[in-house]
Amino acid sequence: MLGCGHWGPNHVRVFSQLKDSAVTAFADPDPKRLAAVSAQYPDATGFADYRELLTTANVDAVAICVPTRLHFEVAKAALEAGKHVLCEKPLTAEVHEAEVLDRLARERGLILMTGHVFLFNPGILKVRELLTAGAPGRVHYLRALRTNLGPIRRDVNCVYDLASHDIAIFNFLLDAEPVSVSAVGAAFLQPGIEDVAFISMTYPNGIAANIQVSWLDPKKLREIVVVGDRKMIVWDEMAHAGPVSIYDKTVVKEPYYDTFGQFQLLAREGDLTIPRVPPQEPLKVQNQRFLDCIRAGKIDFSDGRFSIGVVKALAAISASLQAGGAPVTV
Ligand SMILES: NC(=O)c1ccc[n+]([C@@H]2O[C@H](COP(=O)([O-])OP(=O)(O)OC[C@H]3O[C@@H](n4cnc5c(N)ncnc54)[C@H](O)[C@@H]3O)[C@@H](O)[C@H]2O)c1
Repeated sequence: MLGCGHWGPNHVRVFSQLKDSAVTAFADPDPKRLAAVSAQYPDATGFADYRELLTTANVDAVAICVPTRLHFEVAKAALEAGKHVLCEKPLTAEVHEAEVLDRLARERGLILMTGHVFLFNPGILKVRELLTAGAPGRVHYLRALRTNLGPIRRDVNCVYDLASHDIAIFNFLLDAEPVSVSAVGAAFLQPGIEDVAFISMTYPNGIAANIQVSWLDPKKLREIVVVGDRKMIVWDEMAHAGPVSIYDKTVVKEPYYDTFGQFQLLAREGDLTIPRVPPQEPLKVQNQRFLDCIRAGKIDFSDGRFSIGVVKALAAISASLQAGGAPVTV
């Protein structure tokens, strides 16, 4: 385990619970974080310098949970030391860095997975299943809302921190990557680090997508809406009745009774269905999948290629933010 701040201990807990893995070592330059993990996992060895951990023989794979701008340096060193890598999202801050890691992992026959944890969320998997079965019909657009008050990061903006989740979800749901983006945002708390962003994206076949993210908002909201020409699907992680709702709502064309060849657009309201989605801890499913990939010697999910697609979209969004919302080709 490399990086034991806010999120890292979740990986430590999960890997120590899964039957195919054991946590033998962890690293963090902050002595308080080392002591906190040590107190809970006394059998594992703590290192202040992650490079020392990488030289230990009883480590086959590492999970990387350091601040985003350090992902590249740490993941590269881990791959060069022959370790399989599960790196937190987004894989890197820069596109060329993600490409280097992907190439390195392939050359060395190592597993490189990014912790795009919502790809393992049972509600998102249900939405994907519905899309694959064609339930919404032809998809018109998707929108995502992800807000809360904090946690506020200092090394990356809310786009890298929060929208990275929604871009990964959209790319996964559509099996595609955005072709162009435009975004505006604002930095209220720290100069140059956006707290709120409004992102528009276009996917192949004219599918529109919109993401609103903020860590400066009174409400914790996590919602994805898929609007198709037959049905509309909502994923709402905060919903009590169940995370996925299928609205049999659409707009139909009806001929005007008094004119020939003209149509009126009428809202058609049908049933609301809430399918049963058994709860599962996404991090556990993700980390088990990482272990399975190591065992199988291959990876085809949340891999380097997929992760590069997310980082490319993030880079294009950053360019658009800098250009005051101008469209940027991904
Ligand atoms: N998948 C998710 O839902 C999710 C949730 C939270 C965070 N994250 C990701 O996890 C990563 C870490 O986030 P966090 O909230 O834990 O941040 P954090 O700042 O709380 O923790 C980062 C830790 O890394 C340590 N660190 C810094 N440099 C290091 C180095 N060279 N070697 C080892 N440790 C080092 C810091 O001392 C700190 O303890 C980020 O990339 C973030 O995007 C993902």
